[in-house]
Amino acid sequence: MKQWLAAALAVWLLAAISGCGPAPAASVPAAPVSAAGADVPREGHRVLIAYFTWAENTHVEDPSAVDPDASTSASVLPPGNTARLAGWIQERTGGDLFSIRVKEPYSSEYEECLERAAWEKQIGSRPELTDRVADMDSYDVIFLGYPNWWYTLPMPVMTFLESYDFSGKTVIPFCAHGTGGLAESVEDLRAALPESARVGRLIGVYRPDVDSAEPRIAEWLADAGW
Ligand SMILES: Cc1cc2nc3c(=O)[nH]c(=O)nc-3n(C[C@H](O)[C@H](O)[C@H](O)COP(=O)(O)O)c2cc1C
Repeated sequence: MKQWLAAALAVWLLAAISGCGPAPAASVPAAPVSAAGADVPREGHRVLIAYFTWAENTHVEDPSAVDPDASTSASVLPPGNTARLAGWIQERTGGDLFSIRVKEPYSSEYEECLERAAWEKQIGSRPELTDRVADMDSYDVIFLGYPNWWYTLPMPVMTFLESYDFSGKTVIPFCAHGTGGLAESVEDLRAALPESARVGRLIGVYRPDVDSAEPRIAEWLADAGW
């Protein structure tokens, strides 16, 4: 009986994180995060759009063998979900795009990637990145995109956050996620930033809704004055 319960829980967890289950309320709209997270008007800002996505952090031996309809495998082929959101943000803000990439790519096997990500979270790992933003000092608004990995930011995004001084900058999160929504990612982001950094109005997009999310992204940006 106990074994059955454990198996059922495991299936439920996999369905939840792979996005097979129903969309939770948390996945819905852009919402204010903090009083300091006021909208940032477009004028006079230099914008960076930094994002992390599995597809740009893995290697697929045989792309033709990937079933694009399988919810667990689709993400390994570019463009990843977060990259698609980043592209739409770039088109509207004219900012510079930066892909956060690890030196040691993740497995393109879902289970293996899950396992490594879980381990990295557990030990608070900071995977090494391949590149640095050339002139981070010159940007004052950073759109930061990430998938929800194990209820929070992927650990390479933590490496990114700890690689620069974000004092006085505005960070605007956007997240692609499964049924877990944004989970603890925004709280963890806030905690990783210095006090003087602001967290702008975020957006979370539930994985199956990414295909049709461009108008929502446009609306979110327009609402914030972009
Ligand atoms: C290692 C890993 C862990 C994940 N953990 C979660 C989770 O805890 N909650 C959730 O809602 N989705 C989770 N997901 C699903 C991703 O957030 C979702 O598929 C996202 O759209 C992937 O974006 P990407 O294509 O940019 O990588 C996880 C996916 C992976 C690969």
